Amino acid sequence: MSEAQVKHLKDYTAPTFTINHIDLNVILDGENTKVVALSKVSRRNEHQLDLILDGEQLNLVSVKLNGKGCEYRQTDSQLVIATSESEFELEITTALNPEANTSLEGLYMSDGAYCTQCEAEGFRRITYFLDRPDVLATYTVRIEADKAEFPFLLSNGNVIERGEMPRSGRHFVRWQDPFPKPSYLFALVAGDFDLLEDHFITMSGRNVTLQVFVDKGNLHKADHAMISLKKSMKWDEERFGLEYDLDIYMIVAVDFFNMGAMENKGLNVFNTKYVLADKASATDEDYHGIESVVGHEYFHNWTGNRVTCRDWFQLSLKEGLTVFRDQEFSSDLGSRAVNRIHAIKVMKNQQFAEDSGPMSHPIRPESVIEMNNFYTVTVYNKGAEVIRMMHTILGEAAFQAGMKCYFERHDGQAVTCDDFVNAMAEASGKDLQQFRRWYSQAGTPVVIVEDDFNPESGQYTLTIKQSVESHGVKGQTLHIPFSIEILNAEGASVINKVFDVKKATQQFTFDGFAAKPVASLLQDFSAPVKLQYEFSFDQLVHIMRFASSEVARWEASVQLFSQSVWENVAQLSAKEVMSVDPRVVEAFRGVILDAGLDQALVSEILSFPAASALIEQVSSVDLDGLQMAREFVIEEIASATQDELLARYRELTVIDNPSARAFKNVALSLLSTVSQEYETLVVEQFNCSTNMTDSLAALKAAMTGQFDCLSKLLADFEATWHTTPLVMDKWFTLQALSNTDDVIDSIKHLTHHNSFSFSNPNRVRSLIGAFAAGNTYQFHRKDGSGYAYLTQILIKLNKSNPQVASRMITPLIQFAKFDHARQDLMKQSLATLQNLPDLSKDLYEKVNKALN
Ligand code: TRP
Ligand code: ZN
Repeated sequence: MSEAQVKHLKDYTAPTFTINHIDLNVILDGENTKVVALSKVSRRNEHQLDLILDGEQLNLVSVKLNGKGCEYRQTDSQLVIATSESEFELEITTALNPEANTSLEGLYMSDGAYCTQCEAEGFRRITYFLDRPDVLATYTVRIEADKAEFPFLLSNGNVIERGEMPRSGRHFVRWQDPFPKPSYLFALVAGDFDLLEDHFITMSGRNVTLQVFVDKGNLHKADHAMISLKKSMKWDEERFGLEYDLDIYMIVAVDFFNMGAMENKGLNVFNTKYVLADKASATDEDYHGIESVVGHEYFHNWTGNRVTCRDWFQLSLKEGLTVFRDQEFSSDLGSRAVNRIHAIKVMKNQQFAEDSGPMSHPIRPESVIEMNNFYTVTVYNKGAEVIRMMHTILGEAAFQAGMKCYFERHDGQAVTCDDFVNAMAEASGKDLQQFRRWYSQAGTPVVIVEDDFNPESGQYTLTIKQSVESHGVKGQTLHIPFSIEILNAEGASVINKVFDVKKATQQFTFDGFAAKPVASLLQDFSAPVKLQYEFSFDQLVHIMRFASSEVARWEASVQLFSQSVWENVAQLSAKEVMSVDPRVVEAFRGVILDAGLDQALVSEILSFPAASALIEQVSSVDLDGLQMAREFVIEEIASATQDELLARYRELTVIDNPSARAFKNVALSLLSTVSQEYETLVVEQFNCSTNMTDSLAALKAAMTGQFDCLSKLLADFEATWHTTPLVMDKWFTLQALSNTDDVIDSIKHLTHHNSFSFSNPNRVRSLIGAFAAGNTYQFHRKDGSGYAYLTQILIKLNKSNPQVASRMITPLIQFAKFDHARQDLMKQSLATLQNLPDLSKDLYEKVNKALN
């Protein structure tokens, strides 16, 4: 492994050959599985260069050029064919053993079903190919397998032939996908499933068959995914004018999956977590997650599949845009404010952390070792924020004109982020030259705001300064849409608009104030920047009461809480007693009592920022002080408002909707921090619950309050759910998040539980991933045992599933804010990984960046 493996955006060259059509014959037969790939190859350069195909971990059986043997050589990752032909047919036969494939990339087995995952570079584990997104081919795929074991044989597009081989008990299906696509969108599934079928009539009146395939016995849990799919199809027609283009749309839910879901043309493959749901086993949050992921994959059909990426550096072209679209879908269907709050939390808690750590990269990265490492919160979520800023700058109508222009120009092509911005700029007539810098600059811009009020003139002036830096390099000045609402002393909204900030320092002056007004800044998180302004408690309380934007009210509440925590951290380090300002308590009491506020919003306001979110606000952290201060502030607020909380709890407990449940359950969680006396309430909720949201909330409250009932409730829960893997994941996560000194031992013990398996990513993430990313205090134990345990697990996963290992290492490489003792321990763990003899590319890239 070395720097030689780094690929750079600047080195992009068009392919020297292309493949316009491929005919696959996949003979599924356990360890004797065979793939015959017949490709139509054409030369695109005049020079007589060799044809170089990608291939990894492949067993080559034969190569034929125009039906005859030919000259070739093989390396670790390539098949080089020497030929002077310009147009030819290449037949490559490879042998595969899907059962031994634990990486879950390429062709593998999930619980007795064959399935594929080709994004980003998995197709090269199936056959030798030009495995790059700018090579678009039409596919015909023949799948053959045992009929009894694998009654369903699925691939992209439409069925064109079926047949039986009665003597051997085998059958086959032939599929044809009329739309040229890059290899990463190829998919194949073979297995036995329950099938939920429905249909959708498109805006032009075409009848599309919709199919959701789930493991046998789970049919009753597929309805919500189907409903979500139909809503997605309708929404994309209404908001974007985009219609589905094939006669069939399939979703297959599989238990073994590295990520959330995959948008393969006409045949999405989903993690069961984002398909299966019923009230008893799934939480309201799960329902929401399913709707949003089903939407996301569906929306890729246009943004990703019809128009795809030229190269993987352009990943945000499809992912940023599709996340933006799925966020808009959720917001149009549900609460816009609550959805926006969720998106902001991902940015501030995760993306800001990534952008200030060793993996910091622009939304369009410039160099990559392992592409799988760049499916990041930066490319996805900051990418979506960049699209959102364009939407803010252009407005809905011009943005949609830009989308239209984008599709008119690029349908059927593999293009770049620049092509997208060009379409937006030209259709709207807006100058986006400076704006483009968002694509090439890493790091979170800092925006410092200072204000000044002149009582004589009644003038209020805001001075806005921006700067950005990443890996020690200063970036150029950005075009920042900066939303400001100015509230006068009485709370009336005087100004509410988005300003274009384009200079390093810019001033805005407002006239006509009798007294100093309050500015609500960067409303709705109008740009992905860090805002620095010294808000006073009184200003924050003013914004919480009067801001027009619910998101701004929530933001102010987060600030109020955070400032209160940091004040107490300071008190502690000065050896003074902790205290909470009465204005803080009263502001939150006001929220609890405000019957006019959306209950889901109240629940967001009362779900105080996690330790990990607070850490993101500072440049270095005293973790022990933070833990004490945070718990103290929460308990003070909770105990001062317990009567109100209890009253609202009682009132909401009879209402059956997600918002009411969210409020009620946050109230329960707060009460559990106050006193042991609320244990009966927790037990009662657990025993009477008819849905997973309430059951899980009761369990969590029992854990927060460290109530005696906890072990009994955990045992009851396990007895009820031990045969339902996705529910056991919740049980694992809950225990992984326990803030007790023996939690690591308990996790080790749980890895031997019957429901646990190291080969299933959902299990691994729910137990060990949750611990590392979510149990901040115990993962960062001073004795280093949290780091050591994660390292031990990563060493194991490095061999079996490097992609999952690499995603879980994140909390170990983001060490910069911690004290030296902790940093040293984290670096020691990373050095252990660095010295592994068989370190995967995935971990190599992150470990080296972290240590250099
Ligand atoms: N393109 C997928 C999405 O965003 C995500 C994805 C990328 C993926 N690589 C993957 C999913 C590997 C599963 C496995 O929807
Ligand atoms: Zn996506």
